[in-house]
Amino acid sequence: MNDDQLSNGPYSGLRIGDLAPDFTARSTAGPVRLADFRQNWLILFSHPADFTPVCTTEFVALARGAHDFAKRDCALMALSVDSLFSHFAWLRMIRDRTGVEVRFPIIEDPTMVIARAYGMVGKEDADSGTVRTTFFIDPTGTIRAMTCYPANVGRSIPEMLRTLDALQAAGEKQLAPADWQPGDALLNPASVSLDEVFAAAEPSDWFLKGGAQ
Ligand code: BEZ
Repeated sequence: MNDDQLSNGPYSGLRIGDLAPDFTARSTAGPVRLADFRQNWLILFSHPADFTPVCTTEFVALARGAHDFAKRDCALMALSVDSLFSHFAWLRMIRDRTGVEVRFPIIEDPTMVIARAYGMVGKEDADSGTVRTTFFIDPTGTIRAMTCYPANVGRSIPEMLRTLDALQAAGEKQLAPADWQPGDALLNPASVSLDEVFAAAEPSDWFLKGGAQ
């Protein structure tokens, strides 16, 4: 992270295609550095607070589904402004209540320096709780997708997996249509050649070909 991002990061202006800002932090799995996760996919996501109902259901669901992300060479990394010891106490309670051990790292961010850099909280927010922001980061460290849910709606793990599958399958050159699922056909980008537009057999073939109905 550069000084500008550290001091002014809020709403951060981060966009799909940007390099995910690097950081080091304490986490429930020991010290972590974002850049160390390059070479693989990474989903970095924030949650509003430990010991809250929706967040608890998300963490149980993500921990249960962790192997599905691992199969896709994708690590999970969570973040909230709560302290490391709060995270520990919460994970212990989750384990005792549900039998589920959350083993992916949960970062502590009490100064909100990371949350601000990633736009997980606003610059002027009095409430330090982050929203449910999710960053899909590819093996080069580039942000490939971002989602943002409010505190009162939990994320869908199948949709997170579908997004990851679509990003991995489509790559830079192909397109995943609405409701795409693994195994479905991908689309090709529209032609940018007028000659191809005029040469297409059907009037729509130049922009909508293969797999689309
Ligand atoms: C929840 O996870 O249930 C939650 C967190 C913050 C505000 C409201 C709900």
